[in-house]
Amino acid sequence: SQYQIAVIVGSLRQDSFNRRLANAIVKLAPPEFSFRQVQIGDLPLYNQDDDANPAESVKRLKAEITAAQGLMFVTPEYNRSIPGVLKNAIDHASRPYGQSAWAGKPAGVLGASVGAIGTAMAQQHLRNVLAYLDVPALGQPEAFIQVRDGLFDEAGDIDTGSKKFLQNWMDQYVAWVKKHAA
Ligand code: FNR
Repeated sequence: SQYQIAVIVGSLRQDSFNRRLANAIVKLAPPEFSFRQVQIGDLPLYNQDDDANPAESVKRLKAEITAAQGLMFVTPEYNRSIPGVLKNAIDHASRPYGQSAWAGKPAGVLGASVGAIGTAMAQQHLRNVLAYLDVPALGQPEAFIQVRDGLFDEAGDIDTGSKKFLQNWMDQYVAWVKKHAA
C-alpha cells in the first residue's frame, strides 16, 4: 500500500489494552494504509557507548521507522508519564546524533487506561519529546481512551459508541499523514 505506518505500542504486557486498541483502530483505516507494530521489547537499554556498534534489534527498529511514511503511538500511562520501554525505543531510534529516524514523520498519539484521565499526562509528555524530535503530531482530536467492560467485543473490535469517535480520529489521522508524508 501507499502509506506504511509504524505502530509503536508502549506496553509489553501480553493482554495489553493498548495493543488491543492498536489492533482494533487499524481496521478503521482506508486500504491505501498498512500498519505494522514494531517490536520494542527486545531492545537493549540505551547506552551511548553502543552508538557505533548497535544491536541487531536496534538496526531493525531504525530501518522500520525509516521505511515508514507515518507513526502511530499507542501507549499506557505509567506514573503520569510514558513507560520506560517506550522512551528507550524513542531514544534508540534518535541516535547517533544527526541520524535520527524520527524526524519529519507524521504521527498520531493515542492511549488507553482504566484510570479516568485516559493517559492524558503520558500523552502530553510524549508530545513534548516528539516536538523536540521534529515529529509533527496530530493535535485534534485527542484520544484519551478509558477502558471499561465492553470496550472491545469478542472479535477484538471496538464497541459502537467508541467506534464512531475512533473512526473520526482515524479520518483526521489519515488526512494528517497525507499532508505531511514526504
Ligand atoms: C500504571 N497505571 C497507570 N494508569 C494511569 O492512568 N496513570 C498512571 O500514572 C498509571 N501508572 C502506572 C504505573 C505502572 C508501573 C503500572 C504497571 C501501571 C495503570 C495502567 O493504566 C494499566 O496497568 C494499563 O492496563 C496499562 O496498559 P496496558 O498494559 O493494558 O496496555
